[in-house]
Amino acid sequence: MSTLWVGTSWKMTKTLAEAEEWAGGLRDHLAGSAPAGVQPFVIPSFTATTTVRGVLGEDSPVLLGVQNAHWEDAGAWTGEVSVPQAKDAGAQVVEIGHSERREHFGETVETTRLKVAAALRHGLTPLLCIGESAEVKESGGSSAFILEQAAGALAGLGEEELARVVIAYEPIWAIGEKGRPATVAELVDPFAALGEEYSGRVAGLLYGGSVNLDNAADLLGIEHVTGLFVGRTAWKLEGYLELLRIAAAHAAA
Ligand code: PGA
Repeated sequence: MSTLWVGTSWKMTKTLAEAEEWAGGLRDHLAGSAPAGVQPFVIPSFTATTTVRGVLGEDSPVLLGVQNAHWEDAGAWTGEVSVPQAKDAGAQVVEIGHSERREHFGETVETTRLKVAAALRHGLTPLLCIGESAEVKESGGSSAFILEQAAGALAGLGEEELARVVIAYEPIWAIGEKGRPATVAELVDPFAALGEEYSGRVAGLLYGGSVNLDNAADLLGIEHVTGLFVGRTAWKLEGYLELLRIAAAHAAA
């Protein structure tokens, strides 16, 4: 069975003290090793990257990520952070194309393609987020839409590069306070479509959007799902630890 990736983006939350407390609690809980069959990851705000790296330690089984990175290595791009800078700060994963960035910050299929390439060029794992709006879902076009987003972002990659990419399917209508949890039935077709194209070719096919302690086990049971990408439920360490337990039980079953 594939490794189950279970991680959280903190989005724009947590002070350094809160970041330290969460990361320190996780480090102490794991005591040097991830649950069998599970790959934990955490994606703080840029400000907390080095702090979380320091708390977790260099050899942590928990992968550390950033929520965005520019496609150029350096230059006159005020307000941006490059992949080499993210790597220098201790990051191993670059989240790319989250729907909030597409909606509010002009992320496009083309910029996601450039960013995936930049992450791969520097040896980091691109975590590509894709997902359709409620309107697209209602029109019946979910699978075609997300396949197009993925194909655009991954265009031109060889199989070896593709094998280093993680894809997170996060339907916009299921994300955050305004979202509602997706049912398993709603996710079967999109994951069948993604699985047909990418299963076994990428490092992970994750689900994200209102994952909680009640639905996590069922979501992991969907064919082709190999992990969970979580917001709110994992911002409290106890929630995240419980998700790791659920994933570990799934991996052991
Ligand atoms: P949520 O966020 O779990 O709070 O819905 C998910 C996401 O945006 O990745």
